Amino acid sequence: MNILERTYALEEITVVAQMLSEILPVSKVVAFEGELGAGKTTLIAEICRCLRVKDSVGSPTFSIINEYEGTLAEKPVRIYHIDMYRLADEEEARHAGIEDCIYGDGISFVEWPSKVPSVIPDDALHVELSHMPDGERHIVVRSIKND
Ligand SMILES: Nc1ncnc2c1ncn2[C@@H]1O[C@H](COP(=O)(O)OP(=O)(O)OP(=O)(O)O)[C@@H](O)[C@H]1O
Ligand SMILES: [Mg+2]
Repeated sequence: MNILERTYALEEITVVAQMLSEILPVSKVVAFEGELGAGKTTLIAEICRCLRVKDSVGSPTFSIINEYEGTLAEKPVRIYHIDMYRLADEEEARHAGIEDCIYGDGISFVEWPSKVPSVIPDDALHVELSHMPDGERHIVVRSIKND
């Protein structure tokens, strides 16, 4: 089921991030799909801002997992920002500690879920980002992948 679909310019990212942060209690794991440069990190950083994360949110490409403290529904929440781009398989994912994040308390935002799809739970929220010809981005949010 599509929960949200729209095209947005960079100037409108706060509105999109706000909508996503309101959907968040539905699922603890959000998988961000989309090609290189589609805007996954930028959108996750803006959602983190909506969740009142004080640290600056960058790309975890080199660390694989970044951890932040935010606020959801007036309660403190741990946020894991995971980038699986450099992971080859489930074993590498486990070794990096990804399953501990995904199945622990807190919210996980996962870039490049397609690298190790088996670690993404069935009830994850799927966000798909793509480039539009005019430079804007298109977002589709689904509760079940390709449903
Ligand atoms: N809605 C938008 N409109 C125009 N530019 C955007 C939009 N969202 C993000 N960008 C720009 O796209 C560029 C790449 O964004 P970002 O690093 O977030 O992509 P990514 O999907 O995380 O890439 P990677 O796969 O390499 O991790 C940034 O310069 C960012 O400012
Ligand atoms: Mg990124």
